[in-house]
Amino acid sequence: MDPLLALARGRGLAVVEDACQAIGGRYKGRSVGTLGHLGCYGFIRNKAMACGGEGGAVASFDEAAVRRVIDLANHGRGERYHRAHANPDLGMARDAVGFNYRQSEILSAIARVQLRHLPGGSGRGGAWPTNTAT
Ligand SMILES: Cc1ncc(COP(=O)(O)O)c(C=O)c1O
Repeated sequence: MDPLLALARGRGLAVVEDACQAIGGRYKGRSVGTLGHLGCYGFIRNKAMACGGEGGAVASFDEAAVRRVIDLANHGRGERYHRAHANPDLGMARDAVGFNYRQSEILSAIARVQLRHLPGGSGRGGAWPTNTAT
């Protein structure tokens, strides 16, 4: 990873890590998926961590980048979608072209419990970013 990160840094490029099979793994003491700008993890049953169905996560120390991923996974609807219970029409407006990559609440709950069992835990500072979209 070091040569790749150096190459990207020198050109102002972001590195998106495909860490789908490697959650919990380390590179020179750092958690895989936290080395570049964004780390992607897969939670389907053939991965190192499973959530009981189709699932995955994106992690980053860049909160804005994670928000963008959440928006893209939800038809480009933006933050107001999550606050639009009183006015559903508002929540249907789009800021960008997006996709339907939402993970169910049940599978997300299972994944969040599984994350606690990773080395260093999740969202406790240090090894893992607290900005995680499941
Ligand atoms: C390294 C890697 N990235 C991505 C994927 C795709 O993951 P999914 O099956 O959740 O689409 C796989 C699948 O095995 C993989 O091994």
